Amino acid sequence: MNILILGSGGREHALAWAIKQNPKTDRLIVAPGNAGIAQLCETADIDILDGGTVVTFCEENAIDFVIIGPEAPLAAGIADATRAAGLLTFGPSAAAARLESSKAFTKEICDACGAPTSAYARFTEKVSARAYVTEKGAPIVIKADGLAAGKGVVVAMTLPDALAALDNMFSGEFGAAGAEVVIEEFMAGEEASFFVLTDGVNALPIGTAQDHKRVGDGDTGPNTGGMGAYSPAPVLTDAIAERAMREIVMPTIAEMARRGTPYQGVLYAGLMIAEGQGRLVEYNARFGDPETQVLMMRLGAQVLDLLLATAEGRLGLARVNWADDHALTIVMATNGYPGPYQIGSAIQGLKALHEDSFHMAFHAGTGMADGQIIANGGRVLNLTARGDTLAQARSRAYSMVQTIDWPGGFCRSDIGWRALSES
Ligand code: GLY
Repeated sequence: MNILILGSGGREHALAWAIKQNPKTDRLIVAPGNAGIAQLCETADIDILDGGTVVTFCEENAIDFVIIGPEAPLAAGIADATRAAGLLTFGPSAAAARLESSKAFTKEICDACGAPTSAYARFTEKVSARAYVTEKGAPIVIKADGLAAGKGVVVAMTLPDALAALDNMFSGEFGAAGAEVVIEEFMAGEEASFFVLTDGVNALPIGTAQDHKRVGDGDTGPNTGGMGAYSPAPVLTDAIAERAMREIVMPTIAEMARRGTPYQGVLYAGLMIAEGQGRLVEYNARFGDPETQVLMMRLGAQVLDLLLATAEGRLGLARVNWADDHALTIVMATNGYPGPYQIGSAIQGLKALHEDSFHMAFHAGTGMADGQIIANGGRVLNLTARGDTLAQARSRAYSMVQTIDWPGGFCRSDIGWRALSES
């Protein structure tokens, strides 16, 4: 089977690594990919936001299965274009991906199906939004309705911060994505990620994870796309997962089907957990990054069979084979991230890393210059390890960090702290 994965980050490197191990895989191409992915399989520098380009590429390369990684091509309707061309595709239509591309839409769906989430109000102009926030007070959550590269959510702990967030969004900080703003009740608790495959009717949970959104140790400093993750997330117990399936995920899937926009792909539910229950924080229409890196370390080659069962509507018969293991990934980022940073710094030590089914260095934002791996983005490497315990996985992952010689980069030193302190 010839497989095309769209995307260029650590998530796509991890997907490609797992899928390549499956004997069904003949040819594997990642577009556009990155320097690490290029060491594993073919890459192709095409415009993955253009449906015509992707379909033509698939036809020219006899692609049998397309897997869409990031949210931008999903929101741009690439799954619609490939399905219309008769290509087997993993990932929701643009209409179904609105569960990620519109925060207000997700709230509408929760209202319609009774899924537990925070109270909210939506606004398209600043004066009434400011009045609402002033009446409700802080803490309060301000969200740009549309896709904002993970930066469109402000958890404001004070009223001035909340009003400043509103001013920024309505001044065009996120362009059209901030034309509508959703204001939500602050939910206390511990946040965790729940990943469920669905073919539009059937659903199969495939794991839990927790990431570290703040840049600094002790969960301090500005928000990032994620500085590390581990799986499983102990706070998301089997009982809470079972209840989230019953109260949130299955009703959402049924409501999307009822509206004529069935959701097919991975539904990533961010849950706020308190008092034995998860409430929905947000949906993403894709795998998490860096959560995928730990999920793939644990799932391995079987993930291809699961994604195929999803795309072919056969999930009712699919099962996950779990090992009783743990995985942890540490993100190394370019100095300055998530603020301004310079790309191009040289990364040494990667060749000395021993990679096997317990240790993998996934590349998130790397390039090649003069035969040398260089940093080509904010989040650059995901040093990922598996172990019998979370402590063992963490110790292995930090040993990998020691091998990397990259003065231009940094990482947090406390990934996994919450789960380890609770165990
Ligand atoms: N790690 C958060 C996300 O993928 O959205």
